Amino acid sequence: MLITFEGIDYSGKSTQAKLLVDRLEKHGKEVVFLREPGGTSISEKIRNILLDKKHLELKQITELFLFSAARTQLVNEVILPALQAGKVVVCDRFYDSTTAYQGYGRGINLNDIQAINRIATSGTKPRMTFFIDIEIDEIFRRQIAAGLSADRMESSGRDFFERVRNGYWRLAEMESDRFIIVSGKLPADEIHREIWDIVKKQII
Ligand code: TMP
Repeated sequence: MLITFEGIDYSGKSTQAKLLVDRLEKHGKEVVFLREPGGTSISEKIRNILLDKKHLELKQITELFLFSAARTQLVNEVILPALQAGKVVVCDRFYDSTTAYQGYGRGINLNDIQAINRIATSGTKPRMTFFIDIEIDEIFRRQIAAGLSADRMESSGRDFFERVRNGYWRLAEMESDRFIIVSGKLPADEIHREIWDIVKKQII
């Protein structure tokens, strides 16, 4: 079973993905925990290219292909073998990030994005996708509180993140069979409880 976490930067989705992995392992499940872009040696190298603030010349379509190339490698090298072995795969971001960021955010044609996503994943779909939603102001508040500087993607500006967030809402509406919207404003342990209540019904 593939479970994915989505949301804008600083939504807390990585924390929630980790909490879910820990909980599943406590229940004796074999879990593979991955992040996108990344999760294989090749995909981590592609991640470095994508997030490097020096790469201001990176074109939008190059960005789309690089995220998708990292994903193709991850799907074929790790995700599909793990699913075939009956493991639970938890992925911090998957192809919905490409639809939200490169499609709705950058404005690349959504039909093209859909086709590329299908090729990159060989049609692999998550069973459940948790969309952790926060308001845009929260990104900048949390970034300052964490004392972190913005990477190349995070430097894309407020309007961009508004479009990405709205894109996630559209996706969640269109694919309501697998999307679960969770408010990222609550304390992490409360969000986790909400997520666990849903996952345990499917798995335990
Ligand atoms: P992360 O901060 O969750 O590790 O994600 C890295 C950044 O890459 C984040 O700003 C979201 C962005 N991203 C895309 O724009 N498209 C994608 O397909 C993926 C997986 C991530």
